Order: sequence, then structure tokens, then C-alpha cells
Amino acid sequence: MAKLAHAQWSSRMTFVLAAAGSAVGLGNIWKFPYMVGESGGAAFVFVYLLCIALIGLPILVSEWLLGRRGQKNPASTMSELARTANKPKAWAIVGISGIIGAFLILSFYSVIGGWSLYYTLNSVSGTFSGQDADGIGALFNGMLSNPGLLLLGHSVFMLLVIGIVARGVTKGLEGAVRILMPVLALLLVVLIGYGMSTGHFGEALTYMFNPDWSKLTAETVLAALGHAFFTLSLGMGIMMAYGSYLGKEINLLQTARTVIIMDTVIALGAGLAIFPIVFANNLDVASGPGLIFVTLPLAFGNMDGGMILGLMFFLLLTFAALTSAISLLEPVVEFIEERSPLSRVMATIVAGVGAWLLGVAALLSFNVWSEPLMFGLGVFDLLDTLTSKIMLPLTGLGAILFTAWCLERDSVEAELGLSATGKSIWNIIARYLAPAGVIAVFITGLI
Ligand code: PFF
Repeated sequence: MAKLAHAQWSSRMTFVLAAAGSAVGLGNIWKFPYMVGESGGAAFVFVYLLCIALIGLPILVSEWLLGRRGQKNPASTMSELARTANKPKAWAIVGISGIIGAFLILSFYSVIGGWSLYYTLNSVSGTFSGQDADGIGALFNGMLSNPGLLLLGHSVFMLLVIGIVARGVTKGLEGAVRILMPVLALLLVVLIGYGMSTGHFGEALTYMFNPDWSKLTAETVLAALGHAFFTLSLGMGIMMAYGSYLGKEINLLQTARTVIIMDTVIALGAGLAIFPIVFANNLDVASGPGLIFVTLPLAFGNMDGGMILGLMFFLLLTFAALTSAISLLEPVVEFIEERSPLSRVMATIVAGVGAWLLGVAALLSFNVWSEPLMFGLGVFDLLDTLTSKIMLPLTGLGAILFTAWCLERDSVEAELGLSATGKSIWNIIARYLAPAGVIAVFITGLI
């Protein structure tokens, strides 16, 4: 039976919300603040912003442009565009590795989504109240060493994702982002308001925006570059898949600017919500990936109104993780739907259950299956390393190289509506600067 014509986003605003829903996730709220803390503060923030503008923006625009031209899943889009441009069919690899990467990321992203759900419940039940650092640490370690609990969180989270994606792009994604994004923004504003009341907001501002350049190292720069990639959901076929639903009349540069501003504001907002609490409670800024799970509950458990604030914070994190996870499943489902006789619902179930199974292996690596599997890494770390250090940079590099070097230059410039100066800037950045930056991340990531 012929499939219906490719659906389109009902409005530019809905598209912006969906793309921002993908970009804004654990990367912004969980990862960004702890990376700022580990990398010494404002100097990292500054370089990160530069990377977003000079590398993230052109790659985001490239992925959308490719997706909109191809009108299919990332793999078919790339092979189709390569054929029309008389380039080797091997360019399809860019699409395929993006889809595989999205599938792999979804499996362990859902595990963290499960943590977030568990912490939401803990906030409601008042588990944090009156606890000291040891108690909060024990809660986190207790969770990690309990496979049944991790499995439950992961399963509930994945079921939510499957349920939303199965309803289809218009009903599922639009409905979800319309509700989730504004709630998320509102919760952040409330938390920043609390941060202001702690008396340590100024300290947080200085920490985040007054650079101490002596803290800047080559490693910090590369960490900032890598995070710019992760936070914008680049190199995973996601933005390409979203672009395939994008109408011709949408201005890509303007839209990318809006999404990037939303993503950046949320990340900075998360920092501004978290650091005053960290400083007010004399907590360690550089405590790493555990920052929000081990440190914040301590603050929530010992402050007035901490139960409500804790609940709001982890709800916010769960919502953000959910919208990103929805976007991770989307390209995989689109691919299966177009390449097989399966309906959207069946394709979603097949992809979702597959990622869920891999996630089960990942969560077991925190407890019963903790011995290294390969290269000294367990399943969880292996999935993370393989995707973020190898697949993500290479796929994004492929997308921008193809756009800048393989597509007809005039037509790309016309599609982006560039002025004469705009054309020169675009060509310098898209042809040389951004690819060189990505290559640097990739190489340093491997050594
Ligand atoms: N951008 C999302 C975040 O910042 O949490 C995570 C993410 C989604 C990364 C999709 C990569 C990706 F392909």
C-alpha cells in the first residue's frame, strides 16, 4: 500500500519547538553545568559559545538543508543527494551512521532518563530531607547497584518515548513539545529565582561569566567543542530527519539561530540555577557527572521548600531528557518505516524494544556485569565513547563536507538567501573552519 505523502510541520514555531526539544536535554541540564565546573568556569563558557556559533550553526544548517532536499530518512536522503550530485553512493554512510548512532545513544540516554525519573519520585517521597553527603551518596550508589531499580526506570522511560513517537510526527512530537518546552522554561525561571534568594547568585554570575583565561587549556577548548556538538544533537541524523519535514519557505539560518539561542539560554539558565545552590552549600563545583544527582539532592534536602524545588528540578530534567529521547528514536523509526512494510506503530515498537534491550545491557554494566567488555570499558561507557567520540564528529563532518563541497554552491547560497558578504562568510566557515574544528575534536577524542 502506498504510504501517505511526507508530512510537514504545521508551522515554523512547531518546528522550532521540536528542534529545540531535541537539542535541550541532559546535555544542557546535567552535562553542561558539570563540564563548566570541571573546566574552571567562564573561560570554558566563552569558548563553548564561540564553538556553538562557528561550528554548531553551520552544521545544523547543513543537516536541515540536506534533510529538506532529500525528503526522506537520513540514509535515503544522502544516497539520493549523492546520486543527483554525481558523487559516490558511499555518502549514504553519513546517513546510516547517524541512524545507528541515534539508536545507540537512545539506549543509554534512556537509562539516565530512568535515573531522572527515580530522583523525581525520591523528591516527592521526601527521601532527600535532612540527609548529609554520605546519605545522598549512598542513595546514588544504592541506585547504581540495584539492577531491578535501574531496569524499572529505564523501562518506564522508554515506554513513554515509544508511546509518544508511535503517535506520529504531527500528533506525537508536536503535542509533546507544545506542552513540555514551556513547562521546562517556566521551571528554570522558578529555580533561578530561588538561586537569587540564596545570596550567592553574584558569585555564580562571576564564576560563569568573568573568565580566568589561565584556566583555558587545549583540553578545555576541545571539551567545549565536543559539547557544542552533543548539545545541538548534531551528527546523529536527527536534525536531518527533522529537516525532511521542513517546508520550503522556512529560512534555515534564522531558524537555526532561534534554536541555538533557546538551547544556549537553557544551558546557561541551568548553570545559573545550579551554581548559586552549589556555592550556598559549599559544595564542590568539580564533582563531575554526579553533580546533580549527588550534590543537588543534598541542597534540596536541607533547605526550606527543598522538597518542592527538588521535585521541580528533576521533573524538568525528565522532561528535557524525554524530548531529546523522542528525537533520537525518530530517525530510526523513519528509516524502518520507509524501508519495510511495517506501519509507524510497529516500526516504533521494533526500534524502541531494540534500544531498550541494549539499554538493559548498559545498565547491567553498573552492577552485575561491571567487568570491562572491550578496550577496558563496560557496555555503558563503550556506547558513550563509540557514539560521542567517534560517530558523532565523523557524521557531522560528513554532513558539512557534503553540503559545502558536493552540492552546487550557487544553489546552496540561494537556498540560504545569502548576501555577497554572507556568501564569503558562509564559504570560509562551512568549507574550512567548521570541518577543521570537527577534525580536531575527533583526533583529540581518540588520543
Ligand atoms: N542534544 C541532547 C542534549 O543536549 O541532551 C542530547 C542529544 C540528543 C545528543 C540527540 C545527541 C543526539 F543525537
